[in-house]
Amino acid sequence: MHDFKYKNNQLCCEKIKVHDLVERFGTPLHIYSYNTLTDHYIKLRNAFSEIKPLICYSVKANSNLAILKVLVDKGAGLDIVSGGELFRALKAGCPAKRIVYASVGKTEAEIATAISKGILFFNVESLSELRSIDSIAGQLDKITRVAIRINPDVEAKTHKFITTGKITNKFGIDLNNAYKILLLRNKFRNVKICGLHIHIGSQITESAPFVAAIEKVTGFIKKLGARGIKLEYLNIGGGLGIIYDKEAPQTAQVYADEVVPLLKSTGLSIIMEPGRFIVGNAGILVAKVLYIKTTPKKKFIIVDCGMNDLIRPALYDAYHNILPLRKISKSEKADLVGPICESGDFLAKERLIAKVKEGDYLAVMSTGAYGFSMSSNYNSRLRAAEVMVNKNKVSVIRKRETYADIVRNELFFKAE
Ligand code: LLP
Repeated sequence: MHDFKYKNNQLCCEKIKVHDLVERFGTPLHIYSYNTLTDHYIKLRNAFSEIKPLICYSVKANSNLAILKVLVDKGAGLDIVSGGELFRALKAGCPAKRIVYASVGKTEAEIATAISKGILFFNVESLSELRSIDSIAGQLDKITRVAIRINPDVEAKTHKFITTGKITNKFGIDLNNAYKILLLRNKFRNVKICGLHIHIGSQITESAPFVAAIEKVTGFIKKLGARGIKLEYLNIGGGLGIIYDKEAPQTAQVYADEVVPLLKSTGLSIIMEPGRFIVGNAGILVAKVLYIKTTPKKKFIIVDCGMNDLIRPALYDAYHNILPLRKISKSEKADLVGPICESGDFLAKERLIAKVKEGDYLAVMSTGAYGFSMSSNYNSRLRAAEVMVNKNKVSVIRKRETYADIVRNELFFKAE
């Protein structure tokens, strides 16, 4: 479900024509629907109402403060992976006790700040990291909490760059080593191991891999219980897939029906970390057609938005639907490309795209997750503006960058 639909042949976001938005704010423009954003959060919360998990929205998917605040105000917690995301989470008003912190490479400074701010817990990814957290907490004279991130060695059946739960991935700790660490738990004087964490990958469209991973950890939790090791939390990560093209992902309800019985059997408080599911279909990116170029072999539609605005096609060969702002019945096979000096700078390849003219606009659909958050200034291009629509109202949630912004931190070198 999303709120980007044609009304009288005009693509609208909720009650506003996308065309009016781009005429007013320019392109490239990220447009988010408040209703779609909150609806996805609520769908997940309702599907899991029986066990009332803390839903920690994964900040990396889209870290705009306005988006974080909308979700935090609805009761969400946040899943962070860096000091920068901690800064954003607190700035958006998220209570520290609703923040969980993953990442295989947390620095000392990041760990110290997170401890001082009093986050709920760290998801720990190695023994060395655990030692480091223990020693930093000791220096700060604090006891801090951690969950051990388990690498359950399951196949998530998704793109190889976004699978994280295979034993060959850098993430988490295998069950044998996790067991050894838990047996030694009293050696870490400033750390309380309060839970386990898993996250097996992203854009996972079926429940089976989630079930397989959760079954592995629930078995492990029983084994720990038998040794008198009691935990409080199980964090089941994110990873729920969405519809970009013809996928038929499990709904939140189907996912919940499959996993809730297993989760309930643990008796633990459940945390989840969805990113894409909440924000993916809540955003689109609109570009203006600059030129249409026909070569002996191909037709190229060249737009003012490139891989610096949306890197997913270049990086994962990801599919995003491309729609004209005014319905056009004719379409033609073309490559939709940006202005960047790289052959990998494409948004769609060999695709049937509406027969647009120079000066028209095209909407790249489902760019809410890992769209802006992975954007860059490559080719010294300004990062796009972002707006959020609620019914017939629109708010700018990020101003378009200026040239002054992109050189702000640069200094001339003084040879003498
Ligand atoms: N928790 C952890 C520990 C994660 O590493 C991630 C995503 C999530 C939660 C949220 O996963 P989600 O619910 O959004 O699938 N850039 C890629 C996706 C990378 C995902 C990284 N980790 C893409 O554009 O497809």
